[in-house]
Formats: sequence, C-alpha cells, structure tokens
Amino acid sequence: MSVIVQEESGLFHLQSSGMSYMIQIVNGYPVHVYWGAPLKHRSVMENLLIHTSSTTGLDRLPQEYPQYGSGDFRNPAYQVELADGTRITELQYDSYRLIQGKPSLSGLPAVYTENESEAQTLELVLKDQYSGLTVVLQYTIFEQRNVIIRAARFINEGEETLRLRRALSASVDMYGQDELEMIYLSGAWAREGNIQRRSLRQGEIRIDSKRGMSSHQFNPFAALVTPETTENHGEAFGFSLVYSGGFEAVAEVDSFGSTRLGIGVNSFDFGWQLNAGEDFQTPETVMVYSNQGIGEMSRTYHRLYRSRLCRGTYRDRERPILVNNWEATYFDFNAEKLVSIAEEGARLGIELFVLDDGWFGRRDADNSSLGDWYEDRRKLPEGLADVAQRIRETGLQFGLWFEPEMISPESELYREHPDWCLHVPGRRRSEARWQLVLDYTRPEVRDYIYNSLSTIFSTVPISYVKWDMNRALTEMGSATLPPERQAETAHRYVLGLYELLERITVQFPHILFESCASGGGRFDPGMLYYMPQTWTSDNTDAVERLKIQYGISLVYPVSAIGAHVSAVPNHQVGRSTPLDFRGSVAMSGNFGYELDLTAFTDEEKNIVQRQVANYKEIRSLVQQGDLYRLKSPFTGNQSAWMFVSEDKMQALVYAFQVMAIPNGPQQILRLDGLNPELEYEVKSDINEESSIYGGDQLIQLGLALHYESKDYQSRCFTLRAIDRVLE
Ligand code: DGJ
Repeated sequence: MSVIVQEESGLFHLQSSGMSYMIQIVNGYPVHVYWGAPLKHRSVMENLLIHTSSTTGLDRLPQEYPQYGSGDFRNPAYQVELADGTRITELQYDSYRLIQGKPSLSGLPAVYTENESEAQTLELVLKDQYSGLTVVLQYTIFEQRNVIIRAARFINEGEETLRLRRALSASVDMYGQDELEMIYLSGAWAREGNIQRRSLRQGEIRIDSKRGMSSHQFNPFAALVTPETTENHGEAFGFSLVYSGGFEAVAEVDSFGSTRLGIGVNSFDFGWQLNAGEDFQTPETVMVYSNQGIGEMSRTYHRLYRSRLCRGTYRDRERPILVNNWEATYFDFNAEKLVSIAEEGARLGIELFVLDDGWFGRRDADNSSLGDWYEDRRKLPEGLADVAQRIRETGLQFGLWFEPEMISPESELYREHPDWCLHVPGRRRSEARWQLVLDYTRPEVRDYIYNSLSTIFSTVPISYVKWDMNRALTEMGSATLPPERQAETAHRYVLGLYELLERITVQFPHILFESCASGGGRFDPGMLYYMPQTWTSDNTDAVERLKIQYGISLVYPVSAIGAHVSAVPNHQVGRSTPLDFRGSVAMSGNFGYELDLTAFTDEEKNIVQRQVANYKEIRSLVQQGDLYRLKSPFTGNQSAWMFVSEDKMQALVYAFQVMAIPNGPQQILRLDGLNPELEYEVKSDINEESSIYGGDQLIQLGLALHYESKDYQSRCFTLRAIDRVLE
C-alpha cells in the first residue's frame, strides 16, 4: 500500500519500497512529520508532537504548506491578497482524497504513470474559513521509486476576487536539522552545470531565475544533503521543479534549528488574479530520497525522467547520431555545401543531418529574420524540400533548426505586427542578440507560429527539429492583458509555450525534438516532457564538457544530454584536444558531430568512422543504462564515469586525464554498480587481450589506469558478465 491513512489521529503515511513520508494533522495544520528511510507504520511518536504543538507557536511547527501572518516568520509557501487588500489567510485541514495513479496537471508538463497501480495520489484539502480560498495539496507516491511528487491547486470558492502573490509547489520542513548542506547547479552561457555545495546555517540560501526561463545561471533543482553525504553514501533529498520559467528554491535555517526548503514559480514579480470559481495549478516538484548518496538520487531521477516524463516515439528509442552544420558553416552555406557534409556523413555512418540557423528569411547574420519562417531562395535556390530530399538520398535523415519564440525587429513579421512582442507600451524594447521575444500569452501569435512550422513539417521531409531560444524575457508585459493581469505575463508565457509545444509534438509524433536555449539555458524537466533531448551547452570543448555533462547528470538522464565532437582549435576556448578525447567525452552523452566533416584528413575520417561504429554498439547502454559517476572533474585532473545495464550484465567505463603528469602516481579506478557475485570480462581500448575479474574485485580493488605521457587522455573499458558465478 502506498498511502496509509489513520483517520482518528489524522496521520498520512506515504510509503514506497525505500522511503517514508509522514504528515499529521495537528490543530488543523498539516504538520510535516518525517521524510526519509522507510519506517514501519506506527502512530506518530508523541514526543515529536509535543514539540510541535501550537502552544509553542507556528514559528516552530514543521508544516507542509506554511502561511504568512499568524506567527510563522519563516518563508511561507503561499500568500493571497483578499479583495479588501488584506493578506492574511489561514489554511486549515478540511478533508482528504485518495486517487489511484497520478492525475495529469491541466496545461502543465507532469510525470505520468503508464499503469495506475504504479502510484497513488493523496490530496489534502485545506480551507480558509473567511475568504473562500481552498488549497489542495497534491502528493503522488510511487510504489517502486523513492520519489514523491508535490504540487498545489488554488481554488476560489468565495464570491470575491483573490490575488495570488506567491504560490510555491512545495515546502518541506526538515525538523531539527540545521547542519544540512545545499547542492545546486550554477553557471552562465557556455559554463552550465557547475556543482555548488554550501553549508546551511541560520539564514538562507536562495537560487532563482528572474529571466522568464529556467536559465543558465541556476537550474531549477536543489538537494539537501548531510555533511557526510558522498556520491555513494549518506542521505540526499532532491527537489526538481518541472517548469521552464522563472523559479525560486530557497533553503532557510530558522532560529530553532530546523531547515525549510521551498520551491516553485518565482514569487518575485508574480501575481495571479483568481476570480470567483477559478482555480490555479502550480507546477509540480519531483522530490527524490536517497540513502545511498548523490549517485542514487541521480539514478532515481534518470529512470523516472527517461521513462515517465519524456514521452513520444523517441522515448525508448536509440537516438540518431547527428552532424550539425552550425560550427561547420555558421550562416555561410549553400545547398552544395550542406549536401557535401551529408554525403561525407553517410560514408562515416552518421544517421541524421541537422541544418542549423540561417536557412530562412534573409538571415546572413544573427540580426534579422526571426519570425519569417520560409526558406531563403538565395541560399537554397531549389528550396528547402529539395535540399532535404537530396540529403535523404545520401542516406541521412534531415533535421531543421527553428527559434520559434523570437522575432527580429528586422523582419517581415515585425513590420506587420510590431505589437506581437513582449513589451510595455511607450517603453524601450530591450534587444538581446538583436531580437525580441514573441508574446506567447497571445493565442494569435501561437497560431501564427503553429501554422508556419506545421506548413514546413508537412511539406519538407523532416525527422528532427532543434527548438532554440536565445535570450531571456524582458519588459515582461503583454499588450492584451488588462492592468490587473500584467503580473501574470511571465507565467502565462510559459503556459502559452507549453500549449504550443503540446499541439506541435502531438501533431507530428514522428519528429524528434531537441530543445536548446543558447545551449543549456532551459535544460529543465518541463522541456523534457515535450522534447526528450536538450543541447547541453554551446561550449563544445571536451575539457569543459567533462564538467558540464557531469554537473547536468546530477538530475538529467544521459539520453537527454546532447554532446557533439567539434573542430579544433575549439571555437569557444581555442583549445586543441585530440579527436579520440573529444570522441570519448561526446560518446558519454547523446552523440553527434558539429563540424565540417569534409575538412577531415583520411586518418581523421577513419577515427570518426570507428567512433560512429563504436557508438552504435554502446548506444543503448549509454542512453538507457544506469550512470555511475566515479571521479569528479570538479576536484582534479582526472574524472571518470560508467554506464551499467539494468541487469548488470554489461558495463562501459570512461576515464579521463586532462593534463599529463610526468612520472605520475599509480592510478586505480574503483568501479561501481556491478554485481559483486559475477565475473566480468574486461576489455580495454588499448590492448586486444581481455581479462576476467570478479565484480567484487572491480568494486573493491579497481582497475589500473595507464595514460600516455600526453595531455588530454581518455581510456575506455567494456565489461561483459560471463555466465559463471564466482566460487
Ligand atoms: C544557439 C545554439 O545553442 C547553437 O547551437 C546554435 O543553434 C545557434 N543558437 C544558432 O543561432
């Protein structure tokens, strides 16, 4: 049973195979009692409740959805302004509902079940006595996953208008824990996925995005861990928000030694008018518990997101190896050039050609034509369909780049519809990369984009789309919203985007969509619901990519992590690394090339041909296997990770050394995730001979790594369990 309800004591015990989460109604408040390793079902320990009784005040009470204004001075989960201008409400428990499975969230991306028996959903109905405000707290617990998914729905059951000023998805009070640490991902353009780990003490750590997108700067993810927690040991509590707009995640340690973490849509500049009878659904947050370290937390996210968040034809399919022309040609190409790259790709075994930016309007640089989604006959005189057809004749599939949320002031579309961008009347429209953002709160704008794209999808043989987005939202206002709804613009933009993505991806299920926002500026679970892979970073340097891919893998599955080999010297950092090294890094993700294949020497082409053939062999293991991070690139010169099949019969190890170490120390790499009872045949990439080792030996003793005395070295080992159990 997933949810045990003890009505007489108001106790709700949500149980999965490896986790318990307990809530108890105390004096009408839903009190957070416990989240952690599984507990047998008993009544709640009285001594805990004594400390949490209302006589000591709300400021000490660990709550599920705290309010502001009646004695709890920590960050609240929500705040509502009433028609009379007051901002005090008091939510009290009213009733509960149990639902088998997991209901979908109207208009929002959400984790789903394939079978109702996988999960159970508990809804706690809370009401404010005076205003007609009802809040439904939604909790889904999976039987076989250590995951709990939370969201909240606001309903105005009164007569007067309410205004939401803050509506987080979840708030969790870690009672009596004031020495936790917070892990999160920070960054910037071309520097995504930096792992930060900071101690929490009285006070708060806030990460957020005010950019209208989840952002390069902070990913909508945070984890609380104990100081002892490592990759393999200790407790980790993950919070991942299924949302692509501005968000906040705040961890606060109060004066009584408890930690509160709240996560949801950013309250800064947020408002939502809720008329009588209307409701508002928050996005959901996916909370993962692990008592086997950060690595197990990540694998729980990976399995869930791969199979119960991503959708569509490509969810379980091996993803095609692609070549993208962006770094090969930028805007300077013609049909012949594109076809020649595809022909070379076909010879090398590549499966998909992606025509990136510059094929539409009069787009010779990044300063024009966004919105004019029709082919540029100057570059493609026979048209787009013709190029696509010629490329398909080489044996590759054809993919195309769009930036559908943008408009260039220098475009036909802008000349016709200057009010179609987000703007505040009379004020400057801040350009970034010479472009403005289309107002996706407006249905006619979304319809225009839907029609433009679907015309191309219906007339050109397209198998893949890269959906790019290259600037943050500014002048957050919409020409069509009334004054009292202007503060809704940012969230309405995201809802509009989701509505369009739903329409397009459902209408064209044969197309593989990859999201992108100047690389990883919107690498979030919300986008993964519509598009099962993401361009991880515009930084394609293999050394930089070690960190970026390692960091992003804290939450996101490898099948989603776009990773390409690019030319040297690298266009972002000027570094030259060997093709083997670049290949190993990119083959650790969703693999492709982003360079002019025709410029390779014969020797380089041989290497590429080997890489492509090799990736086809390992692809299902890399994309669908379990990832074990073995050595972090954030702490030194070496890094390593491995992929293990679900049945533990196959594994693949990649190890990297960035700088040569003359006369260096012996390096031993201890493996993980294997079955200690099995024997494995281990083959390394530098000698033909294979050796047989026990899983226990590989875990406890490890593999010796031998690097050449050169910079930028990588090593690869393939492991196959042999049909013999260790004596
Ligand atoms: C930003 C993307 O991240 C790049 O990969 C490329 O598609 C450019 N935009 C094209 O303008």
